[in-house]
Amino acid sequence: MDTFECIRTKFEARNFDMRVVPPEIKLEILEAARLTGTGLNTQHWRFILVEGKDDLGKLAEDSTSGKWVAGANFAIIVLTNPNYNFHLIDAGRVIQCMQLAAWSREVASGLFTGYQVERLRNDFAIPHDLNTSAILGFGYPARKLVAPRKNRLPLDELVYYGRYGKTKEDSSTLDVT
Ligand SMILES: Cc1cc2nc3c(=O)[nH]c(=O)nc-3n(C[C@H](O)[C@H](O)[C@H](O)COP(=O)(O)O)c2cc1C
Repeated sequence: MDTFECIRTKFEARNFDMRVVPPEIKLEILEAARLTGTGLNTQHWRFILVEGKDDLGKLAEDSTSGKWVAGANFAIIVLTNPNYNFHLIDAGRVIQCMQLAAWSREVASGLFTGYQVERLRNDFAIPHDLNTSAILGFGYPARKLVAPRKNRLPLDELVYYGRYGKTKEDSSTLDVT
């Protein structure tokens, strides 16, 4: 799948089927994380791979907005160091890299950020100096999507040209005629 097609068709999955993700794809997703750049190349992040019904169930119990992770094939907890003021930018980049790497192999994923932090720290031995930035659940999607169902604003509402507030009509930047 080429990169744009991967971005275009990727969606947030919350329902997975029983198929097991092969270890080499799992490794590729983790490798995508490792290869992603961090601010100042600090590589301050750490990842916890969560597998098995019991631990995925624990993750779901600790969650407030990601109970669906109980049905994932595996999950990854993304930890970043809050001493770096760019740590959440790094988190966003690595999350998207892992999700796109997975989707390019037809493995779907979802992300959640709501959890009872102290329970999570306790259950997964997460040190207090690291921020629990997000949790990703991965697996094969329960249903085959025929077309992307993206609910997004049009470009005209999102993009200005040269100056804030300047619309495409005021600009010739993207004229193709
Ligand atoms: C910063 C961030 C936090 C999110 N938190 C949650 C969450 O706690 N639980 C959840 O189910 N989805 C969460 N999502 C997924 C969003 O709901 C999803 O990206 C959005 O609905 C678009 O989905 P789509 O790409 O399938 O259209 C989060 C996404 C982002 C980027």
